[in-house]
Amino acid sequence: MADIRNNFVGIKSPNPFWLASAPPTDKAYNVIRAFKAGWGGVVWKTLGEEGPPVVNVNGPRYGAIWGADRRLLGLNNIELITDRDLFLNLREIKQVKKDWPDRAIVVSLMVPCVEESWKAILPLVEETEADGIELNFGCPHGMSERGMGSAVGQVPEYIEMVVRWCKQNTRMPVITKLTPNITDIRKPARAAFAGGTDAVSLINTINSITGVDLDSFAPMPTIDGKGSHGGYCGPAVKPIAMNMVAEIARDSETRGLPISGIGGITTWRDAAEFMALGAGNVQVCTAAMTYGFKIVQEMIEGLKNWMDAKGHASLDDIVGRATPNVTDWQYLNLNYVAKARIDQDACIKCGRCHIACEDTSHQAITSMVDGVRHFEVIEAECVGCNLCVNVCPVENCITMEPLAAGVMDQRTGQPVSPVYFNWTQHPNNPMAKAAAE
Ligand SMILES: Cc1cc2nc3c(=O)[nH]c(=O)nc-3n(C[C@H](O)[C@H](O)[C@H](O)COP(=O)(O)O)c2cc1C
Repeated sequence: MADIRNNFVGIKSPNPFWLASAPPTDKAYNVIRAFKAGWGGVVWKTLGEEGPPVVNVNGPRYGAIWGADRRLLGLNNIELITDRDLFLNLREIKQVKKDWPDRAIVVSLMVPCVEESWKAILPLVEETEADGIELNFGCPHGMSERGMGSAVGQVPEYIEMVVRWCKQNTRMPVITKLTPNITDIRKPARAAFAGGTDAVSLINTINSITGVDLDSFAPMPTIDGKGSHGGYCGPAVKPIAMNMVAEIARDSETRGLPISGIGGITTWRDAAEFMALGAGNVQVCTAAMTYGFKIVQEMIEGLKNWMDAKGHASLDDIVGRATPNVTDWQYLNLNYVAKARIDQDACIKCGRCHIACEDTSHQAITSMVDGVRHFEVIEAECVGCNLCVNVCPVENCITMEPLAAGVMDQRTGQPVSPVYFNWTQHPNNPMAKAAAE
């Protein structure tokens, strides 16, 4: 059977599934239950410096977006870092690590952006024998207003400085957790790399308002008539997170920098996709909060079964396999032609494909043929955009069929000829023009 043991920056765990720093990892009770369920590691809920306790709101701290079947798609929170005593957390971490030596325990940290604060907390964490630290530069609410979290993560110079302090003051591997609330994710990753980080993890949550109560006119979750932006996570953020992981994985300035992938991971397939894009392991929060710790069992079995079926012996066989296939638009093959086909046996004749195509796109799907309701692709008009596939409620009813080279393009009546390999060489590309002159 496939070997899914994970070695991430020297931190070993029996599988690549770690719980992300959040309520599921806030105390020994939870972490022990998680380890019993099979999680390979945890990033302990973010600890702050010694001092007055962090105080959370005493009302709703979550907002949500649901699908039509009430399945949770996106979760938003206004929670702060741990509000439990620092030394109680440290004692629990030490005990759990002692009792579960084969599991990874990484401690998430967020202290003020001064060297003394980092110097003070690092030895305390080292003493627990935890496997590493994760720097929380991502929290978008509550802590950022105090000059921590994403307030640091949005300034590459601060990231580099804090990572360097940590590398100079601890022997533990340093994982730098990035905020997605930034325009170009490569900038903070490069800064962390320059500071000497052992890895980056991403994404933390995305600034968001999930709803507005139209009676009180207050954003939700509402605390005594007011609301604040919160951090968005869950399945809805997965595409954003995967793009950011891929952006870093293929950046020549940080090539080889290990990545821990986070954001919306709910199934083994999600995890495999993140790893294929370059993540060395994955972290999960919302899925565990929605379905409980045992979902890891499906993740483990699913990943192993898929790897066995495909002949992948270990995680090294899959990590980064999709990265070279992520490219910039100009390198896409403009000679590739695919057109939609509707399986008439599977079609339920709802007409969504026709309306979408007729109203908003290319008028390439019939609605009536010989006076009968009938939905069929008009090949000459179809540009292969894929909208019909995405709006069709029946899976695999509409498929995209690639046309072989040499096939006639029915719109132009000309053969699909391989004249231009890609946009780089296309005569309308100003760069290609300049190069040719
Ligand atoms: C309620 C809640 C609290 C969180 N607290 C922290 C935290 O203390 N430190 C941190 O680095 N990330 C925190 N996160 C972010 C998660 O670790 C993770 O980055 C994010 O939720 C995306 O993963 P997901 O889509 O699997 O939930 C929190 C998330 C949630 C939902």
